[in-house]
Amino acid sequence: DWNMPDYISEAVEKIRAQVGSDEVILGLSGGVDSSVAAALIHRAIGDQLTCVFVDHGLLRLDEGKMVMDMFGKNLGVKVLHIDATDQFMGHLAGVTDPEQKRKIIGREFVEVFQREAGKLSKAKWLAQGTIYPDVIESAGKGKKGHTIKSHHNVGGLPETLNLKLLEPLRELFKDEVRKLGVALGLPHEMVYRHPFPGPGLGVRILGEVKKEYADLLRRADAIFIEELRKTVDEEGKSWYDKTSQAFAVFLPVKSVGVMGDGRTYEYVVALRAVQTLDFMTAHWAHLPHDLLGRVSNRIINEVRGLNRVVYDISGKPPATIEWE
Ligand code: XMP
Repeated sequence: DWNMPDYISEAVEKIRAQVGSDEVILGLSGGVDSSVAAALIHRAIGDQLTCVFVDHGLLRLDEGKMVMDMFGKNLGVKVLHIDATDQFMGHLAGVTDPEQKRKIIGREFVEVFQREAGKLSKAKWLAQGTIYPDVIESAGKGKKGHTIKSHHNVGGLPETLNLKLLEPLRELFKDEVRKLGVALGLPHEMVYRHPFPGPGLGVRILGEVKKEYADLLRRADAIFIEELRKTVDEEGKSWYDKTSQAFAVFLPVKSVGVMGDGRTYEYVVALRAVQTLDFMTAHWAHLPHDLLGRVSNRIINEVRGLNRVVYDISGKPPATIEWE
């Protein structure tokens, strides 16, 4: 049985003993693991921790503001918000291959982080939100056959930084990390978020990534998530809670529509919602038709530039969860 207050004070003591008066940097992504690691380390060493939040321009709507408000304003954590949108967009221009896009996003992420970390010359430690399943997974790397996707994660930073590693969540499973996050004062909504891939919207915009496409996709995606969260059943669960992952995908294809007495010729978004335990196989979620209808109406009415919404009814396998 797990006594949370005891666990937290032990973890805090351990971190203090480990780092002493050294400075620590942490790459904050907005995801559950790095957020909980940041909250825990901040509890232990306060301002000796500096978080670096790299915005690649491929995040969800208002993500930057959300992260800065939650950590900067509410928790009083030192966070540097690095807007590297132009750098990422520049390197992604003209690139259509999914694996190539992942490589570029992963590489540029390391480059930006390293540059920012270099400015914090006093830092001796690099903190990461590595959790137990990550430890197991990386121990098993190379033993499996081929990889389907390279799964570039913005968590994996290079040894070249010459920093000691601080990984306070290394022994925890995901559900334990979430409970710890809530106990440390992170909002339930953030701690129980769906996973979001490191390359972000970069793998949800099919083919070439453009800022214009990312802006349209962000707005459609936010409407979808908002409507999923609104539906609450007798047990207090929404369709957001009942799905493992849900998001919109941008298709760089134009189709004809009609609005008022005019003809439109605009882009398409696909909605994807899946249920899964391990993300290795997944079922498409049987979302109620009236919910899908509301989402579609809102997207088409509110997001000028999109005039068609389709729902993805493919399972994994044979389809993957992400479209790229
Ligand atoms: P697929 O699309 O392979 O996705 O069925 C399985 C899970 O992995 C996530 N995913 C990624 N996560 N970097 C990540 O950090 C990636 O490049 C990446 N590609 C897929 C996907 O969101 C799903 O949860």
